[in-house]
Amino acid sequence: MAQGSGEGGRVLREGHPFVPYQTEPVTAEETIWRATAHRDASERRRSVREFDRRDVPRATIEQILLAASTSPSGAHRQPWTFVAVRNPAIKVKIREAAEEEERRNYSGRMPEDWLAALAPLGTDEVKTHLTDAPWIVVVFAQKHGLDDHGERVKHYYVRESVGMACGMLVAAAHAAGLAALTHTPSPMAFLGELLGRPSHEQAYVVVPIGFPSPDCLVPDIRRKDLAEVGVFFDVDRIEGD
Ligand SMILES: Cc1cc2nc3c(=O)[nH]c(=O)nc-3n(C[C@H](O)[C@H](O)[C@H](O)COP(=O)(O)O)c2cc1C
Repeated sequence: MAQGSGEGGRVLREGHPFVPYQTEPVTAEETIWRATAHRDASERRRSVREFDRRDVPRATIEQILLAASTSPSGAHRQPWTFVAVRNPAIKVKIREAAEEEERRNYSGRMPEDWLAALAPLGTDEVKTHLTDAPWIVVVFAQKHGLDDHGERVKHYYVRESVGMACGMLVAAAHAAGLAALTHTPSPMAFLGELLGRPSHEQAYVVVPIGFPSPDCLVPDIRRKDLAEVGVFFDVDRIEGD
């Protein structure tokens, strides 16, 4: 039960503050073209592995991180840390360590089927994007939090939450007119050591962000169409009828 109405429509529900959901009015028809415009923009996003060395302002990266951090998360714990690296010496160290692991992956550690799946993407153990991109954002998943007294705070659905935040991070970079790559060097424990993260944080993904190089090529991939990814139980028809 809501009690009282305070500043900005703030009310208490079972003693917890709630505020009115702020949204602009949209008609049902408008949702179609808005969704279509967003889909068109999303279609243009590609994973980029060839970056221009042109710098990107720190202010842009700050906004991208804040956008990613608006992601839904289990019990609103926001169990992520984004470490944004522009420092060239640190980027070189990350690249060297990542390439060392990837050399082992590509020369024996990855099974044949994985290598075959990667072949069309043209990836190998050379990771120029880690030093060419002006920024690399290393995302860490927090297994638990710490309160003001250093006591553990339980986190819920950590990997699902961080995965969603990473999707929003990549989308935010794209919306800013930048390119990004989702890079998962494996194993990636070296990142926690290199970046001095506490033991309750696990490296989750590396996201180089920057402008694509002028002659950047991307694999000519096809995305699944709606019939392959969507199943509808609509109001007037049962699928298969
Ligand atoms: C969880 C995950 C891990 C990925 N790891 C790598 C990686 O380590 N190296 C890489 O070059 N691309 C990596 N990718 C990018 C995919 O190869 C890419 O998203 C896919 O080929 C589709 O291309 P697109 O992003 O341009 O649509 C990863 C993507 C995801 C979602």
